[in-house]
Amino acid sequence: MDQDLQKKIQEAIKDPKNMGELLDADSVGTVGNSECGEMLRMWVKYREERGRKVIDKATFQSFGCETAIAVASMATETIKGKTADEAMAINTDELTGDLGALPPMKIHCAELVEGALRSALEGGDEKKCDPEPAKQADKSANLIDSFGSASDKSGGVKVVFLDSDEKTD
Ligand code: FES
Repeated sequence: MDQDLQKKIQEAIKDPKNMGELLDADSVGTVGNSECGEMLRMWVKYREERGRKVIDKATFQSFGCETAIAVASMATETIKGKTADEAMAINTDELTGDLGALPPMKIHCAELVEGALRSALEGGDEKKCDPEPAKQADKSANLIDSFGSASDKSGGVKVVFLDSDEKTD
């Protein structure tokens, strides 16, 4: 990875924006990458603005690499004030914000963020899990709690694993 990008990633993760669970989120999406084992969850909260439903706030938690955290930090800022459709139209390169284009071996890191975002914008885990109360309650749980509850089969979260042909470094 080039020095300039490495520097930008280090800067971004020194003070990542919007990290942590969002307790009153309207939707949450969780994805995993089976190649590298990273996982990322994103919460989205909407508000009404001049008759449009726009993203008020988005936050994330990650069991991810530094690049994924840096991209998630950028992405959660980029989508503020956009409708779900507008946010869905943002491509992977745009989500990386100031980081710019990522090298091929790091593109899947941005795709992890994009996957979690798309999952949340499409209704997220609420839509993909059975609509049982225990599972719906999981929409606000943090990532660590969710994996615990997923393993004891009392609720949990559906993790969508992204297809990836990329090898990690
Ligand atoms: Fe797999 Fe970054 S998300 S190395």
